[in-house]
Amino acid sequence: MPNRRDVIKALAAASGLACLAPFIPLGKFLTPESGTAPPRQKIANIKDIPIGTERFVVYPRSGDPARDKDPFKQFSVVRTGEREVVGYSRVCIHLWCLISLDKETGNTFQCPCHGSIYTVEDGFAIAGPAAKQPNRYLPKLLLEIDEAGDIYAVGVEGEIGYGR
Ligand code: FES
Repeated sequence: MPNRRDVIKALAAASGLACLAPFIPLGKFLTPESGTAPPRQKIANIKDIPIGTERFVVYPRSGDPARDKDPFKQFSVVRTGEREVVGYSRVCIHLWCLISLDKETGNTFQCPCHGSIYTVEDGFAIAGPAAKQPNRYLPKLLLEIDEAGDIYAVGVEGEIGYGR
């Protein structure tokens, strides 16, 4: 027959597990889907993006509008030449505001919060507080273009919010 001390230990263990239970499903949402290959997702045809302009892209797209609003899924794809495109996370590596292309120059991204500037060429922070971070490169959206000019996102290089 269990003594009083055993019963108290069992109750303490059970209450500890009960306290963690609500967080177990949450963990699924906080961690990226791991162990699965990044999806190959069509973004656009290159003809649909004029040279020197950007297209905002959700990657990986879930189909759920609420989940697809997640800033960590937001990317900017810029067409830089006839058959050249680059893509980066829109999450500024400073305090995570969303960057966008400077439409006047077409060769830098600007962060509206504290003025960080990144080059379109390689996503490198050249000004503002992002230029003082240890990793100054925006995470890159890996892109492929097929014969027909269709652009596909095939993965992400770097850690969104922290650079690469
Ligand atoms: S969040 Fe982008 S510069 Fe501060």
